[in-house]
Parts: sequence; structure tokens; C-alpha cells
Amino acid sequence: MSIVEEIDNYKKERDAVIFAHYYTQPEIQDIADYVGDSFALARLATELECKTIVFCGVRFMGESVKLLSPEKTVLLPEPKADCPMAHMVPTGLIEDCRARYGDDLAVVCYVNSTVEAKALSDVCVTSSNALSIVGELPQRHVLFVPDKHLGSYVGSRLPKKNIITGHGCCPVHDSIDVEEVRELKAAHPNAIVLAHPECNEEVRKVADVIGSTSRLISAAAHAPAREYIVATAVGVEHRMALDADDAWRSFLYPKTLPVCSDMAMVTLEKVRDCLRDMNGEIEIDLALAERARKPLECMLELTKEPGW
Ligand code: 13P
Ligand code: SF4
Repeated sequence: MSIVEEIDNYKKERDAVIFAHYYTQPEIQDIADYVGDSFALARLATELECKTIVFCGVRFMGESVKLLSPEKTVLLPEPKADCPMAHMVPTGLIEDCRARYGDDLAVVCYVNSTVEAKALSDVCVTSSNALSIVGELPQRHVLFVPDKHLGSYVGSRLPKKNIITGHGCCPVHDSIDVEEVRELKAAHPNAIVLAHPECNEEVRKVADVIGSTSRLISAAAHAPAREYIVATAVGVEHRMALDADDAWRSFLYPKTLPVCSDMAMVTLEKVRDCLRDMNGEIEIDLALAERARKPLECMLELTKEPGW
């Protein structure tokens, strides 16, 4: 029996559905029931009736699913796959800003964060809804954690808000080098530059489209150009290539390839093993989960349709 057949059998036995983020390896995306960005997968989990979700991605994504769908069993095939930025929330800064600005401050927590950080926050956002949610908040002062780049991007688009950030960032996106993007653009002047808002400001400045992984994938399938320079983790290439099925479009990456090594830790063997042994289950202290769920639910309420 092939490993894919084994996974299928265990899935039926466990009443399980497999989720995969766009940054996981192609063979993982191919066996997943749903592939999406962090927002789409968290919301989708609340709409499904299965008992078990196997989350192929990093820990904070599985935790968001568990917080929003506490009655489901959520399994991480590789429990060590973690997002380093999730641990960069400056809790002292949250206390300082609350003391300084009182009710005119909102603490906005990017979902790429720990459960503990979410529990200290007013509302969560993802890269697809951060701009619209922050724009709707009544408070003028916004502490945006942990991503200084996404926070500064939101601030640049909403100049009436006072956006305060810490120093957190994604090591993969932060190290995308604008010079490497410029070199590609010089060699391919008609290419459209696609950048995730976790990129540093220099890269964002040369981008034609800035958005979540879903937004970038959609732009790569529908924009009129033949060539795309992609400034996000290389895992998106699989979906971009599938959606560009006429082979007319091509995708170019900076020569220092942006790879999310945590996402790459998820393998077919680990998916099979976690379903077979029911290990890698996400467990969150109930009182903490109650506090961390509120900002996530607030995000769902405030998201009309994810914009970018
Ligand atoms: P998306 O929300 O766009 O899927 O991004 C998640 C992420 O971790 C980007 O690095
Ligand atoms: Fe975290 Fe960066 Fe990987 Fe996204 S690409 S999961 S932000 S380390």
C-alpha cells in the first residue's frame, strides 16, 4: 500500500480532514483536503463538521484552529514546526502602552504569535485583513505586534493612526534582499513584483502587489504579465504553477531562496504517523484558551471579506 493510501485509510478511520498552508512541500499540498492561507484555514475549520483536523503548517496556525474550534482534535504532524516570529511579542511594551494610552489604544496581534500573546490582545489579524481591521478600529493608537514590517506597512496605508511596533519580524521575509529583487527586475523589466507584507520596507517599495499568500497567488494567476518576481517563501510556487496551467507564466525568486524551514519539516511520513498514533495533539489550558479565543473571534467578526 502506498503512503498516500495509508493516509487516506487513517483519515476515514479518524474522521479527519487535512489542512495545508501554501508554504508546505508540494507533496503535502497535493494530499491535503484544503490548502490555504492562515486566515482561510482558521475560518474554514469553524465551518467543517469533522472530528479531527491534521494541520500541516506551523504551530500558531494549528493553535488558531484549535482556539476557534475547541471541540475538534487538532494534530500537528511535526509539533516542532514553529514560527520564530510568534515568540517575538514584547509583553512589557503591551503593559507600557496600555498604561500610557488607556482606552484610546488597541493591541492588535498578528496571528503569527503565541497563545499567551493573543490572550493579552484586543484583536487578531492576518496579513489578509490587517489593513481593513485596523482601519475600522475606533482607537487612534494601535500597538501592532509582533511584526514590525506588517505593522509599518499598515501604518503607511493608514496615516491617521499612530501605529507602534516592537522589533519582531519573520527571518525569512526580513532577509529578502532588495538588491537581489532589483537585479531580477533589471533582467526582466516587464515582470510584476509580488511581495508579502512581512518583507522589509525596501522590498515593499519596489513591489507592484503587496498581499497575503492567497492574494499573491491570485495576482500571479490573473495579472496580465508573463513574468513574476516573487518575494515570499518559495512554497507558494507549487500553487502558482498549478494555477498558471498554460505554462505561459513564469516565476522568478531572489537568488538567496526564501525558504521557511519550519514549514518544510512536515513530511508525508509524519502526516501518516500522527493519524495512525493520534499524536501531536494541540492542548491549550482552558482559562488561557478562553482569553486567547476572544481576539480571534473579534477578527472573524470584523472580517467582511479578506482584502489582501
Ligand atoms: P499568510 O497569512 O499570508 O498565509 O502568511 C502566513 C505567514 O506565515 C507568512 O509568512
Ligand atoms: Fe513564520 Fe516566516 Fe515561516 Fe511565515 S515564513 S511561518 S512568518 S517563519
